[in-house]
Amino acid sequence: MDKLQVTGGRRLDGELRISGAKNAALPILAAALLPDGPVRIGNVPHLHDVTTMIRLLGRLGASVTVLDGMKVEVDPTTTRDFVAPYDLVKTMRASILVLGPLVARHGSADVSLPGGCAIGARPVNLHVDGLKALGAEIEIEGGYIRARAGRLKGARIVLETVTVTGTENLMMAACLAEGRTVIENAAREPEVVDLAGFLSAMGAQITGAGTDTLVIEGVERLGGCHYEVLPDRIEAGTYLLAGAITGGRVRVRDVRPGHLDAVLVKLREAGATVTVGDDWVEVDMQGRRPRAVDIRTAPYPAFPTDMQAQFAALDAVADGVGTVIETIFENRYMHMLELRRLGADIRIEGNTAVIHGVEKLSGAPVMATDLRASASLVLAGLVAEGMTEIQRIYHIDRGYERIEEKLRQVGADIRRVPG
Ligand code: UD1
Repeated sequence: MDKLQVTGGRRLDGELRISGAKNAALPILAAALLPDGPVRIGNVPHLHDVTTMIRLLGRLGASVTVLDGMKVEVDPTTTRDFVAPYDLVKTMRASILVLGPLVARHGSADVSLPGGCAIGARPVNLHVDGLKALGAEIEIEGGYIRARAGRLKGARIVLETVTVTGTENLMMAACLAEGRTVIENAAREPEVVDLAGFLSAMGAQITGAGTDTLVIEGVERLGGCHYEVLPDRIEAGTYLLAGAITGGRVRVRDVRPGHLDAVLVKLREAGATVTVGDDWVEVDMQGRRPRAVDIRTAPYPAFPTDMQAQFAALDAVADGVGTVIETIFENRYMHMLELRRLGADIRIEGNTAVIHGVEKLSGAPVMATDLRASASLVLAGLVAEGMTEIQRIYHIDRGYERIEEKLRQVGADIRRVPG
């Protein structure tokens, strides 16, 4: 299994291009099961999770062709099988996103329960209850969600918790239901809006995307289209932080700056000069040590949980004391323990981490535990003295395209070695 070796101490300086968003590409690929004809999706990031979703679509019988430049063509008309098996779902929870499209389009779906994961229990009850409200009959049996339905019927669904993939699953299913569906307390993440854009391009009738109330007028069929996935705001935020933590300057290109607002506020607080263009953002620390910042995660447009671990790394070397409060996933603190192995001073009390910035971290072997946790270890490695060797980097490859190449492009000393 590959490892990443990072030698700290280089101030990053340069520019890099941001890929398509993983969390938009995954639901969009799942939604490609819905239409009556082929769709072409561009700006798809080359990531393990995307490969897993493509394999899953293939297992269901859809014809998937990966064209040059990460364009993916999906012809769903050959879909014959409606089972998302455990061996795929266990490697990627987002496999649950085929549940809504399969039930809505084929009246049948057997999707393995994802099970627990390193960042908390992560239940799927809201996906299941919402589909029941739309008229599906669902049983949980043998570790599988078994859903059966005739044509779904529009309904009013009030989500008890804001859930991103839950909102997406129900929005996709409602597109082919009979009549109107209203989803209240819907997630407002840009990736939900991007999925709504893709569904609309196929002929769906959706209003309210980006607000907490989605209204979907069901249609009888959806057709093919061509769509480009939006840029990855979490990838962009991670590289901006890489610039800030090293006291350097990093510009990210091909982004939607507005989607980064909550992150940019914190980078400014940390002392960075932030410049925003039409489709780029630059962070410049001018050689300064960052100041500690307080973080509290919450659904969009508040501060994203997927950037929490990276800011914990920043606080670990910042001037002052920062607190990190995680309100979305109760166990998302595994990276704190690994950061401590590098010399970080972190105390965890309930769902709050109190981080006293230290002058220096020192390189050590560490283990990636989940996707964003791994990113925080890479960031810490960029400033730690000596070499940090990160194991289990398959977590990173799930969500960051060629992370070592992109970081090398802006001056980092990082390499992938076979382990
Ligand atoms: C998505 C993102 C993930 C991000 C997360 C929160 C994708 C593929 N993944 O994950 O990167 O960290 O949003 O922004 O887009 N919950 C329930 N019942 C449910 C569903 C969720 O109680 O049926 C709870 C969860 O336990 C959690 C909260 O709702 O506390 C939010 O989770 P959710 O938004 O569903 O996360 P994901 O969609 O899995």
